[in-house]
Amino acid sequence: MKSERRFSLDKILAAYFPDASFNSAIPFGSGHINDTFLITNLAGEKYLLQRINHQVFQDVAGLMNNMERVTRHLQQKLAGQTGSRFTTIQVIPNAEGKLFHQDESSNYWRVITFIPNSVTYDLVTSEDQAYQAGYAFGYFQQLLSDVPGDTLAETIPQFHDMKSRFAKFDAAREIDSVDRVKSAEADIEFALSQRKEMIAWHELVTQPDFPRRVTHNDTKFNNVLLDRESQQAICVIDLDTVMPGVIGYDFGDAIRTIANTAEEDEAELTKISVNLDYYRAFAQGFLSESGQQLTTLEKQSLHYAPNYMTFIMGLRMLTDYLQGDIYYKISDTNHNLRRAAAQFKLVAELEKSADQTQQILTEIFQS
Ligand SMILES: Nc1ncnc2c1ncn2[C@@H]1O[C@H](COP(=O)(O)OP(=O)(O)O)[C@@H](O)[C@H]1O
Ligand SMILES: [Mg+2]
Repeated sequence: MKSERRFSLDKILAAYFPDASFNSAIPFGSGHINDTFLITNLAGEKYLLQRINHQVFQDVAGLMNNMERVTRHLQQKLAGQTGSRFTTIQVIPNAEGKLFHQDESSNYWRVITFIPNSVTYDLVTSEDQAYQAGYAFGYFQQLLSDVPGDTLAETIPQFHDMKSRFAKFDAAREIDSVDRVKSAEADIEFALSQRKEMIAWHELVTQPDFPRRVTHNDTKFNNVLLDRESQQAICVIDLDTVMPGVIGYDFGDAIRTIANTAEEDEAELTKISVNLDYYRAFAQGFLSESGQQLTTLEKQSLHYAPNYMTFIMGLRMLTDYLQGDIYYKISDTNHNLRRAAAQFKLVAELEKSADQTQQILTEIFQS
């Protein structure tokens, strides 16, 4: 979903640092949504310049407001904690004091502080990494449990709303614009078999007495910065999707990627299962920080969250397949179908491991 537009880095940098001369701006990182550049001025100070994906995030002002409020809150909370290794990115306004900059071709840009001596990894390869990921997102969650003022903007409306996702899926099946329903019958059938239970979970977590929290909503391992030396989590990044949500969104989406034994689009379905060691380690890290603040209802909701988040991704991929691949980038015509099948297989595997994962959560809550 990257829009290829021309832009002049010099002009953009001048909008941020009219007096400073920057001697380098180089492409940086392995992100898939935003274009990121590392910029270094003559004094050696480093920042990151990021082009915001305006196609995915239509409310850039709302998004940047969220980001500024969240990072300012994190900064204040962390300042009161001596010896914490945890830190936060900060938003650097442009010379006019605006949180983002719009260039002549309607690209949107932001500048954030660069966290030195940090690394990210796409895949978790040890229990300790799974724990660090859990710790980072759990701590982030806990630090944001008391953000004052109005609720944050919902930057992607109805992002995790199962009813609305099913409505789009139903419409895509009905229209069948690219004649693919026939080739997706097995996965469509699986999706329909899950509808009732999935919608019931969403109703549970959106009932009036269920706590709304500030959630990250993109809890992948490569959105946690680790200290290069100690390999401990030091910062949560990629705050575009930070908005009001429920605890299970962050827990569930992290388990979906971190405890999956295979890639998101694995074609060989037998390779897909739940890595219980990573599940346990992530859950321990996550709940060590966020556990105390959870209500009984929230604790009960957590177990089904990975099934929900994995399923909703599969449903979105399958819908995209039926619509002719308009949202996700694909490498071949069956890519979205393969992705959906892989997500649905993981849902089935999560069902199979349900007794064991419930046991893991129960033990953590009792400890
Ligand atoms: N403030 C930062 N300090 C150091 N590295 C960062 C920082 N922000 C992002 N990165 C690196 O750049 C990559 C992409 O940034 P991210 O904000 O996650 O964009 P995307 O939305 O494209 O994933 C990250 O995975 C990380 O390696
Ligand atoms: Mg990222």
